[in-house]
Amino acid sequence: MLNADGSIADDIEQVIISADKIQARVAELGAAISRDYADKDPLLVGVLSGVVVFMADLLRQITIPMAVDFMAISQYAGSPSSGTVRITKDLDHSITGRHVLFIEDIIDTGLTLSYLLRNLRTRQPASLNVCVLLDRPYRRLIDIPLAYKGFELPDTFVVGYGLDAGGHYRNLPFIGLLKDQARGR
Ligand code: IMP
Ligand code: MG
Repeated sequence: MLNADGSIADDIEQVIISADKIQARVAELGAAISRDYADKDPLLVGVLSGVVVFMADLLRQITIPMAVDFMAISQYAGSPSSGTVRITKDLDHSITGRHVLFIEDIIDTGLTLSYLLRNLRTRQPASLNVCVLLDRPYRRLIDIPLAYKGFELPDTFVVGYGLDAGGHYRNLPFIGLLKDQARGR
């Protein structure tokens, strides 16, 4: 961070997606999910921590009965590209027979998500779909069908709206590009 006591917004070079644009798109996604999952009482599942900002806004745009659950993972050291992860906090609910909608903040290679979807599928949900806010489709190493998608991103590291750099910047209400001096700190 550049500013230990100043505003984190001062570390941003450029806003890539404004707060207004994000909110408008999240409202559209919530409306579509409410339509598609009417009478299905879906379980929205997210991985901590990046997804919490998107999840909190999306939930409030969904008008049908639904429930939410979270899991936490840690990457195995030494195998960053395999997508193999350790589940450090599992879901609190059984998903067997439930209509599960997996919510993600961003999909890049898709390796981590693909691993988690395989894991969830073994628990035999009634259905399993993916809703992602941000996507870099040209970075994908494994094909993953996306039922709902917010925006496509350029090939630059971004922060804000749940996305972090070294744990910081998740609380920015927009998606932005870090200034050079703020990177890697
Ligand atoms: P992958 O799809 O398995 O490659 O992993 C994507 C993960 O990388 C996301 O869940 C984020 O935690 C992280 N990530 C990818 N791109 C960015 C970015 O631009 N900013 C912050 N985190 C990112
Ligand atoms: Mg994530």
